[in-house]
Formats: sequence, structure tokens, C-alpha cells
Amino acid sequence: MHTSNDNTIEYIFPRNKSVSMKVDVLLGLQWGDEGKGKVVDVLTPAYDVVARFQGGPNAGHTLEFDGHKYVLRSIPSGIFQENTVNLIGNGVVLDPVLFMEEAQALEASGVDIKHKLKIAKKAHLILPTHRLLDAANEKAKGGSKIGTTGKGIGPTYTDKVSRNGLRIGDLESNFEAKYEKARNRHLDMLRSMGENPDITELEAKWLKAIDYLKEFELVDCEHAINHALDNGKKVLCEGAQGTMLDVDFGSYPFVTSSNTITAGACTGLGIAPRRIGDVYGIFKAYCTRVGAGPFPTELFDETGKKIRDIGHEYGAVTGRERRCGWIDLVALKYAIMLNGVTKLIMMKSDVLDGFDEIKACVAYKINGEEVREFPFSIEEESLEPVYVTLPGWKEDLSKASTYDELPKTFKDYIAFLEKELQTPIVILSVGPDRTQTIVR
Ligand code: GDP
Ligand code: IMO
Ligand code: MG
Repeated sequence: MHTSNDNTIEYIFPRNKSVSMKVDVLLGLQWGDEGKGKVVDVLTPAYDVVARFQGGPNAGHTLEFDGHKYVLRSIPSGIFQENTVNLIGNGVVLDPVLFMEEAQALEASGVDIKHKLKIAKKAHLILPTHRLLDAANEKAKGGSKIGTTGKGIGPTYTDKVSRNGLRIGDLESNFEAKYEKARNRHLDMLRSMGENPDITELEAKWLKAIDYLKEFELVDCEHAINHALDNGKKVLCEGAQGTMLDVDFGSYPFVTSSNTITAGACTGLGIAPRRIGDVYGIFKAYCTRVGAGPFPTELFDETGKKIRDIGHEYGAVTGRERRCGWIDLVALKYAIMLNGVTKLIMMKSDVLDGFDEIKACVAYKINGEEVREFPFSIEEESLEPVYVTLPGWKEDLSKASTYDELPKTFKDYIAFLEKELQTPIVILSVGPDRTQTIVR
């Protein structure tokens, strides 16, 4: 029986289905390449939708299963699991040529990509001239270049923010005129930088790839995702890059051009902040970085080389050597705070199997003063990491399949990290394969 009082409560706290379903977010807490692709693939069976919300083909997300290895750049890492809808969100920048390469390779390996993938009309297009501008900008920076992936990411996001961008939805009307206007503007910019490229071939390839793109379902991502949530569907948002590459909070200017943090999932998909549920923060048992920029715990010695060799730390997209160093808990705590991480996932634990000792940076010493809160700049020449040294476990973790099987020294390391980070570590990855994953 309803009383007037019940109705008042119903009015104040409406039983609105739309607030009950939330999205979960999985993102990197370091400088990228934490192993996001592997874990998204592992978690996907629990979700109906997997959505990428930012970045573009600067990402390289590796998945390994059944003896095969796949590297995804723009396509969400849920694409291999049955019955999951994959969505490229409005916050992503898409290069049709690289997208076609990636999608056709998946089609060739039997993935029904045209049915499983949907693309946001509001996502921005990377033009061939964006890639040329990326290269020209880097050249102009000389010694202070960022070491971008060269995929045109910065110039495409610059056009988006300066309101000159071309969106996938523009394919539906008057596209050629819009494209030519953007291209000519870029060619003028390139000429002013002393470049005079012949883009005939690049353009022909790009326009062919545009036709391929039209074969996909183009959607109003914000409506699609909110309808899915209203209908009780479970959504996982997949981040690219990492928190320390975020354009606002990363090691600026050595960052990418998008918001890689949880907030980016809201703007990159059209989700209200109150619809964010669990945030899975993923990190390696050590730390890597590709490209230029400060990296307080970087190792220039044999230990750094050993981590690189054992961890195969070479870029999934560019093949570039990744810089390696010890885990940085000052930066990790900062990343956990910015993202509202509820659950941690530690990757590549097995890479440290052979080490007698493992170090963890717990503070920075800047001009002689100990700092535990991530500072404005980590570029100070006087910055020195303060380490805690822990014993190594000296056992092969890669064969373990349950938490109980893991050595005590390793469990002590997990307990140390959980205490420092004040967040539970719920998944441990002990090898690149889908099966080498321990859920606690
Ligand atoms: P993402 O960009 O975050 O998806 O990460 P990448 O794919 O660029 O880099 C992670 C690399 O580590 C890939 O080569 C993975 O196959 C590999 N990998 C992931 N998890 C593990 C792990 O637990 N142990 C080892 N040894 N390799 C892993
Ligand atoms: P995933 O998703 C690691 C780095 C580049 C460069 C900087 C800017 O695989 O983790 P950009 O091309 O974005 O303008 O380059 O960001 N970078 C990444 N580093 N993993 C990535 O992606 C990266 N995407 C960009 O090396 O330092
Ligand atoms: Mg990567």
C-alpha cells in the first residue's frame, strides 16, 4: 500500500533504472603499455559492451591466446570474445587507413567485425596531413621533441579543440568539400613550416579506406551507451595510454593529447560522472616509458637492461625500446587518486622472478627535501628517488594458477604494495597469455 509519505520518498529518490547501471573503467596508471589489452580480453566475458574512449592508433594493445598474438590499435580489446558489442567512442581519433588494416586482419582471422563493432559518429578522423603535421611538429621541436608515435594524434586533437576537425558523422553529408577544406588548411600549415609534400598516393589510400569505414554501423555513441545501461547491459570502458601521459595531469609537455584518466571516459563516451562504477587501475610490477620525458626511477644500468630483455619491453606499435625502471609509488598513488581507482591489477610480476632484490620508490628527494605527494614537475635535475628494498621471490611465477600457489615472499610484496597504495590488488598477471591470470 502506498502512503503519501512513500510517494514523497519516491519523488526524492526516484526508482530510476538509469542511475542503477554503471560502467566499469579499466585504465593504465603509468606511462602506458601496462597490459590493458590482455586484461580487457580476460574481463570481457563479464560484459556486454566494451568501449574505447580516447586515444587512437598510438595505442598498441597486445592479446595472446591459443598460441596467437594480436595487437589492437583502435579496436577495443573485447573483439575476440563472443557476444560482446565493441564500441569506438567519440573521444577516439580514428585513422581510416590503419583501421582498415586492423579490421581486415581480424576479418581474415575469422572475427565477424562488421557485426561486433560500432563506431561513434562524433569520433574525429585522422587525415594523412595530420600525420605529416605530427612529423613536422616533432622536427620543429628539435632536441626537445616529444617522441610521439607519429600517428597524427596531437594535430588531430588540436583540430578538434580549435573547432577545425572532421568527424566520422561528416561522411554522411558534403564530405568531400569538408575534407578538401581541412586538407588545404593543413597543406598551408605544412608549407609555412618549410614542407611541401606530395600527398597524392596517401590521399588515394585514405579515400579508399573511408569507403571501407562506411561499411560499419556508425552510431550516436552517447545514446547507444546510455540505452545499453538503461537496459541493464554491463559496460567496460577501455583506456589507452596511461595516467602519466594524460594531457592535464601527466608529465606535460611529454604527454599524449587526450584525457587518459577516468574523467575521459565520461567525455569520450557521453557517460555522466555518476554512472562510473568500478575503476580498475592497471600497473606493471616495475615501470616503463616510451618516447622522451622525465622518468624518476629509470635505470640506465644492467638491471634496466635485464628488465627490458626479460619483459620484452619494445613498443607494440613502433618497436621502439621502452625505457625501464623500478616501480614508482609516488606516481602510482597520484594516479589512484586522479582516477578514483577501486581495484588494482598488477601485471608482469613474472618478469621480476630472477631478481635477488626489488626496489620500490616511496618518495622523491627534491633539493634535499623528501616529497611524498606528486609534485608540479618531476623534471628537476635534483630529483632523486627514495627506495625501499624488498627481497625477491626467486621462483617461477608463470606456471601458478591460484593465489595459494604463489611464494610467500611474493605475497609479502603484494601486502607491502596494498598497504602503501591503500587499494586492493585483485588480479595478478604472471605471463602474456590469457590463461596466465590469477584472480584473487
Ligand atoms: P597495453 O598497451 O597496456 O595493452 O600493453 P602492451 O600490449 O603495449 O604491452 C604489454 C606487453 O606485455 C605485451 O607484449 C603483452 O603480451 C605482455 N604482457 C602482458 N601481461 C604480461 C605478464 O603478466 N607477463 C609478461 N611476461 N608479459 C605480459
Ligand atoms: P598504449 O595504449 C605507451 C607516448 C609516445 C609519446 C607520447 C605522445 O599502448 O599504452 P602521441 O603519439 O600520443 O602524440 O605520443 O605518448 N604514447 C604511448 N606510450 N603506450 C601508449 O599506448 C602510448 N601512446 C602514446 O611514446 O611519448
Ligand atoms: Mg601498448
